[in-house]
Amino acid sequence: MTATGIPADMTYIRLHGHGGPEVLEPDRMPVPSPAAGEVLVRVAAAGVNRPDVEQRRGNYPPPPGASDVPGLEIAGIIVAVGEGVARTRVGEAVCALVHSGGYAEYCLASDPLALPVPKGFSMVQAAAVPETFFTVWTNVFDRGGLKPGETLLVHGGSSGIGTTAIQLAKAFGSRVAVTVGNGLKADACLKLGADRAINYNTEDFVAEVKEFTDGRGPNLILDMVGGSYIARNIRCAAQDGRIVQIGFLESPKVEVNFAPLMVKRLTYTGSTLRPRSVTEKAAIARALSDKVWPLLEAGTVGPVIHTVLPLAEAAEAHRLMEESRHIGKIMLETEP
Ligand SMILES: NC(=O)c1ccc[n+]([C@@H]2O[C@H](COP(=O)([O-])OP(=O)(O)OC[C@H]3O[C@@H](n4cnc5c(N)ncnc54)[C@H](OP(=O)(O)O)[C@@H]3O)[C@@H](O)[C@H]2O)c1
Repeated sequence: MTATGIPADMTYIRLHGHGGPEVLEPDRMPVPSPAAGEVLVRVAAAGVNRPDVEQRRGNYPPPPGASDVPGLEIAGIIVAVGEGVARTRVGEAVCALVHSGGYAEYCLASDPLALPVPKGFSMVQAAAVPETFFTVWTNVFDRGGLKPGETLLVHGGSSGIGTTAIQLAKAFGSRVAVTVGNGLKADACLKLGADRAINYNTEDFVAEVKEFTDGRGPNLILDMVGGSYIARNIRCAAQDGRIVQIGFLESPKVEVNFAPLMVKRLTYTGSTLRPRSVTEKAAIARALSDKVWPLLEAGTVGPVIHTVLPLAEAAEAHRLMEESRHIGKIMLETEP
């Protein structure tokens, strides 16, 4: 322990190579020091996200300069700051989007990406916000340009991303249809505000969403599935519709008839959050602070927490995520 009360080393979750959840094991490493523009956070809670599963499997390497410790979002207390960061931030309760290192007792974050814990939120609730709210904001509103009165179709409606997309789209005045794998997930999405939940195991989403939109199709589709969904998304999108790809739970490689892209004047785009620059992420953070933090603090929108496990059980958290029975977020908590 140093004079600042920060210990020399800490528990973190190490990736012992790539593979199944068992490659995630607790280990010890030195507590990192904040570089210029960074803060060091004593982590109280961290979110588990599907990209962590892809990283563990070896399909989603950390961007250059990022450590290979998994974890993209945290909440905790700032205990030290690097050069150029206001000393007054020490002691602040924050939630932060981080490019790696969240599965640990201490984690570095860029100063502008460490946002205040929303009033009334627990650390677990706060840690469940950054990854999905940054992702949904930049893809649904910035890239996808969703407007009030338009219809959004969200695939994977019960996922961490889906539960956030439903609430934000509804809060900003859109109609929302989702696809889900079972009735329990459908009910949860409807309760969160979705106007229509389509069980893809028993219903054809193309036909159902066409009917839901009186034949027009959704103006925006947020898709994390890819594969067989790509052609079907193009088929069901509205005139001047937009499709935003944020993941490929099925394959990224398919043969597709792109003719409707011209006929319907569609826009097909996508993005991944993690490799974007701090400047770009800071712009998203500012938009969230202005437009979404008031909604979080008013209880209009909020993270849906499915399970909270101790940090040491990160492997179990990944098993749960891959079983795909969860609704909302799976979280890790450090010992108080
Ligand atoms: N581009 C970005 O910046 C970015 C950032 C964060 C996350 N993502 C992506 O967004 C997606 C959701 O992330 P998350 O953390 O919210 O994950 P999650 O909670 O595990 O959600 C994944 C959901 O997808 C549904 N699903 C549909 N088809 C599936 C299939 N073939 N295999 C497995 N699940 C399937 C599952 O629900 P059903 O039972 O209904 O199938 C499951 O709940 C992931 O693809 C992730 O990589 C992208």
